[in-house]
Amino acid sequence: MHIDILTLFPQMFQGPFSLGIFKRAIDRKLVSINIHNIRDYTHDKHHTVDDYAYGGGAGMVLKPEPIFEAVESIKSKPGADELPIILLTPQGRLFSQQIALELSKYRHVILICGHYEGVDERVREHLVTDEVSIGDYVLSGGELAAMVVVDAVVRLLPGVLGSEASLLDNSHVTGLLEYPQYTRPAVYRGWSVPEVLLSGNHTQIAKWRREQAIQRTLKRRPELLDKANLSLEERQLVDRLRDCLSTSPPLSPSPFKERGKSGIEGASPLQTSLDE
Ligand code: 6GU
Repeated sequence: MHIDILTLFPQMFQGPFSLGIFKRAIDRKLVSINIHNIRDYTHDKHHTVDDYAYGGGAGMVLKPEPIFEAVESIKSKPGADELPIILLTPQGRLFSQQIALELSKYRHVILICGHYEGVDERVREHLVTDEVSIGDYVLSGGELAAMVVVDAVVRLLPGVLGSEASLLDNSHVTGLLEYPQYTRPAVYRGWSVPEVLLSGNHTQIAKWRREQAIQRTLKRRPELLDKANLSLEERQLVDRLRDCLSTSPPLSPSPFKERGKSGIEGASPLQTSLDE
């Protein structure tokens, strides 16, 4: 896959794309990423990329000409036919694993990082094919959002991840959050790894993990369960857990997590086991 990114701050991309899975994927030629400075497509001596908004108001607006010209220069290269041209903006549709999967199927994608107070509306109307936001908060530019999108897409490309299994197991693919994971030591500061994980019984381990994933999803992101692929037995488990939740104290609105055993995540897996 080839990805072109248009930005006013090309230096922001130097770190992330030269490390870890990006570096590996680029070295193995599974993906190529070109960063273009929008300023390079200006023609005036001050390299003007923004201007005052017609109608007045505070803040500057990104001019259409350099953005159109940058995209056109990329598109004029051979093999750049059916390609998504995506503007990263808080007004876009909310990015998701589904959108990452859709994008991962293209040979070529162009990402445009919005900035300042906005982008001239003609870029939206006559250039881009889609607008994407990564969440309901305001960033000072689309660069970090573009990195998020590229990360989510690149790891889906065939051969990028070490083990293909980790792709399928992952939350947002199964529709569930991930189950708790542990590594050595078996006891750390008196906190033990759950017995079942040390048992070597792979059937029991798979069952425990599945139940933990369901419990965790119900507690933290209940809306995900509506779309998750659950068996009839698992649906029944969810119903029982819901009853249990409705009688436990409400979660604190504080950003700090409540420790200790309360609510369903503290419940013993035996109490909520599928074969109860
Ligand atoms: Cl894509 N851009 C900006 N500036 N802010 C955002 C965003 C994008 N997604 C969420 N907040």
